[in-house]
Amino acid sequence: MIMSSSIYSMLYCARPHSIGSIRPWMMSHPFPFFNALQKKAPIHFLKRQQTWIVSSYEYCEEVLQRSDDFSTRVLLPSLGECLVTQQDEQHKSHRQWMNGFFSELHKDQRDGFAKKLAEQVVDKVKPGNTYRLKTDITQKYTDALSMKVLGIYEDKMEDLYAILGEIKGSDRKGIAEEKVEHYLNQITAISKPGGLLHSIVMDELISPKVKLNDTYLMIDAGFLTIRQSLANMTSGLSRNQAMQEYLYSSNCDYRHFINESFRLYSPFFSTIRRAKKINTLGNQIIQQGDQLLICLMSANRDQIVFKDPHRFDPKRRNVQKHLAYGDGIHRCIGQHISNSFMADFFEVLKTKQLKPVVQNYRKDFQADSNNLMISGVGDISVSFTPC
Ligand code: HEM
Repeated sequence: MIMSSSIYSMLYCARPHSIGSIRPWMMSHPFPFFNALQKKAPIHFLKRQQTWIVSSYEYCEEVLQRSDDFSTRVLLPSLGECLVTQQDEQHKSHRQWMNGFFSELHKDQRDGFAKKLAEQVVDKVKPGNTYRLKTDITQKYTDALSMKVLGIYEDKMEDLYAILGEIKGSDRKGIAEEKVEHYLNQITAISKPGGLLHSIVMDELISPKVKLNDTYLMIDAGFLTIRQSLANMTSGLSRNQAMQEYLYSSNCDYRHFINESFRLYSPFFSTIRRAKKINTLGNQIIQQGDQLLICLMSANRDQIVFKDPHRFDPKRRNVQKHLAYGDGIHRCIGQHISNSFMADFFEVLKTKQLKPVVQNYRKDFQADSNNLMISGVGDISVSFTPC
């Protein structure tokens, strides 16, 4: 349904050029707003942005699965072609190649390398001391994971961040060939042969521009997302009694712990699709070319699918049903390794009998109005107490 202009202006600020025009107060506590939308207008059109906001689980899932009708887009228009924007056969063969790599990684995971890396970070924690949640804790862990999984030389992490910063500011759609080559040479210099980044850069079948965007995607969509997810979930754990009771109990199943806390605190606000042709969705007609903002974070707290949706309940029968990794053919390729890396981190916290205490942070969950992809807590202060 198209919203009346009064409701529209109540809900949205008129900030042109930005899909992120949802009012700031909604972002600081987005869920009541989403729950209202799910009931009253699960698919509604924002005229100013020419964008459909899809907020219910049912329609988010449907759009993600109808890849013949709705194609992927990324929020960064400058990113250009990469695995996530490719369609049809091109996407299929590219994804198959990557899947091979990710299944190997998943097998490697059995040697417990991630748990050792988590232990190295957590061993340095002294109860009572104050740390910055991301810089000192979750980033330390994901940097170590990136070095191992992406195959980056131990002393080259700073170089990686410098390259990322440079690439971030560039427009890769219109980027000159020499510049692409320049970045790829820089990435080659920091990556180990046999690692994921090196393999992408060396692959003859992918064009240089796609190689560049893919490597960026692996780092940014991959490890920065795990870092943010762990920060959100640690902050959640510090405040959520039910999460604490379950994690520190003797019958905790880490898979259920991760699935349910990820449903509540995943950082993925939304993903974007564009209608390939005129389509029907629910009782709406979506015109060819219309853009759709698929609010995954909203779908994960839809009470039609998740009873009492704001409550942590690891025993729900549909605990795995969340959309935090998307759905359909573009569903996250890194979901299995991410889940086990995150489980390892919380298992180590529990083994060491440490409980996080996030200080002066009142909000249950803070979405970020400047970033409608990745949201959550900032680099807030945290300490750990014995439990
Ligand atoms: C907790 C961490 C993660 C979250 C929340 C996450 C979330 C997502 C989501 C929601 C999508 C679907 C996007 C869409 O349909 O438009 C996606 C796709 C993707 N993710 Fe992840 N992801 C995570 C970790 C990773 C890791 C570790 C990697 C790789 C190292 C990765 C690589 C990718 C790639 C390449 C795609 C595109 C797949 C395709 O288009 O076929 N992600 N991710």
